[in-house]
Amino acid sequence: MSRARSLDARGEESADPVAAQAREVLRAYERIAPVYDVLDGLYEWSWKRRLRAELFAHALPGRLLDVGVGTGCNMPFYPPGSEVVGIDASPAMLARARARARRLGLRVELRQMNLLELAFPDGSFDTVVATFVLLCLPDALQLPALRELARVTRPGGRILLLDYHRSSRTAVRWWMRLLSAWLRWAFAARFDPTTEQHLADAGLEPLVRAHRMGDGVTLLVLAPGARERDGGS
Ligand SMILES: C[S@@+](CC[C@H](N)C(=O)[O-])C[C@H]1O[C@@H](n2cnc3c(N)ncnc32)[C@H](O)[C@@H]1O
Repeated sequence: MSRARSLDARGEESADPVAAQAREVLRAYERIAPVYDVLDGLYEWSWKRRLRAELFAHALPGRLLDVGVGTGCNMPFYPPGSEVVGIDASPAMLARARARARRLGLRVELRQMNLLELAFPDGSFDTVVATFVLLCLPDALQLPALRELARVTRPGGRILLLDYHRSSRTAVRWWMRLLSAWLRWAFAARFDPTTEQHLADAGLEPLVRAHRMGDGVTLLVLAPGARERDGGS
């Protein structure tokens, strides 16, 4: 694993990939939050809303955790009557999510938290959602993230993921290559998260695995509780 460098509590450099990812995300999203919805608006209205609706059709009634809630783009799709908690690393993104919840008249508990260290007991949620979030994580943190999402999902619950996917189509691949430096700088993100390689190790069974947008986006509905494979760290 390539160990990212970060500063520890005493300000000394340490090799802690969780802290390094948190710092990078915080830097990017505190900067981009004021213009996030404008920048993403074209994508949001031309295709993301359609895929959010498709994803949330798989949500179960009850308690729902929106991981990396961002500015709250998923809010219009929360199942009516569900009890929702949204967490994010970035206070500036959470402030916008709070304003959106107010506008939509929704009661959503919003908390600053790292998705790799969720402050919830095991099995707290019926549905755990992460849309365009795991793309912010390096390879080494994909499995720990999936395990943490699985931990807070109740047995029989669902994990719903939407993320970019390295397309097999040449035109889409070129488009992704062209925009990847911008995605990295602006959103601390990548087009080729390796999430899918770690599902079995995290004990997650895919109930739905669908490619969308010319296979540039993956939609996953996962059931926790399959026996975790040994060997993943
Ligand atoms: C591209 S935005 C997506 C926001 C929203 N889910 C959506 O679909 O529009 C990624 C969000 O994930 C959050 N994020 C990234 N890594 C995180 C982490 N380790 N813990 C908590 N939030 C994180 C970022 O702060 C940002 O708000």
